[in-house]
Amino acid sequence: MGRIVRLLTSNATVVVSGTKIADEIGISRSEVWRLVQQLRKLGVEIAGHPATGYQLRTIPDLILPEMIEPPLRGTIFSGNIHHYYKIGSTNTAAMEAASEGAPEGSVFLAEQQTAGRGRGSHDWHSAQSVGIYCSIVLRPPLPPGESLLLSLAAGLAVRAAVQELCPSLELDLKWPNDLLVAGKKFCGILTEMNAEVTRVRYIVVGIGINVNQASFPPDLAETATSLRLATETEWSRVELCAALLKSVDREYRALLENRDAHDSILKRFQQRSSSVRGRAVQIEENGGFEGVTEGLDSCGFLQVRTSEGLRIVLSGTVKLK
Ligand code: BTN
Repeated sequence: MGRIVRLLTSNATVVVSGTKIADEIGISRSEVWRLVQQLRKLGVEIAGHPATGYQLRTIPDLILPEMIEPPLRGTIFSGNIHHYYKIGSTNTAAMEAASEGAPEGSVFLAEQQTAGRGRGSHDWHSAQSVGIYCSIVLRPPLPPGESLLLSLAAGLAVRAAVQELCPSLELDLKWPNDLLVAGKKFCGILTEMNAEVTRVRYIVVGIGINVNQASFPPDLAETATSLRLATETEWSRVELCAALLKSVDREYRALLENRDAHDSILKRFQQRSSSVRGRAVQIEENGGFEGVTEGLDSCGFLQVRTSEGLRIVLSGTVKLK
């Protein structure tokens, strides 16, 4: 289907015959008709039928490999992008693929997730073609203790990508890697790994971005937002997804290649988060505790000053008070 969309996109002003599409892609004309029908069901507006040929009415904002590959040449993701119209969870697919040997830089993208997973035991609301649901397989030569840094770097990468497309938008990072706009969450990151005690075998960084949602179910409406709601404009998911992967590529290469990357990630995260220092918080971990944030430790864990002394948050949810 991706190849049909690409072909129609590059001939956007003309009617393309079913025979031409069939020949270029190497499938039968009846198969072209079947795929066109499927694309229509997914909301791609294609005029015509087998006798007249086909023409795109609007350029679809589907995050197909064919649409996002060109700007990704030279990155670790080039040639490694898998796209699904509907899947349970891209993180589950990426973890399975990694366990079967998928190379570093493999990317799993979906238009819709039916079992999108968040941190802890939360779900991730993943409606069709309004968000970016993206999971990336990495095989960094790092000890497992440094994986949190990679996750913080992913948050910085999302922030940079969104700012590249909309420099005036004020964004906030909430430890460990939520992204907020106007006090509400528009992006979450679920980092999962398979490791030995001293060596990471593979890490999957799963990124969910609320891009073009016009509203949210009542249970999320108080806390969740989308880039569209925040800016009152429709965003191109294709452009944002390409910017995101380029940005992750930059952060990841820096982490592996630059001696000072570790300190730079900690420093930039603290600069770009309004809540890692001096903020009253409630931590939902080990029965729960509260205190005031006091920056990140050298591994990237959040430090909280409580009435009993300094405590380190390992994995609990941080509630801003
Ligand atoms: C969170 O904030 O709780 C993390 C949300 C992570 C959601 C993304 S969407 C792509 C990938 N696949 C999943 O099932 N989850 C992550």
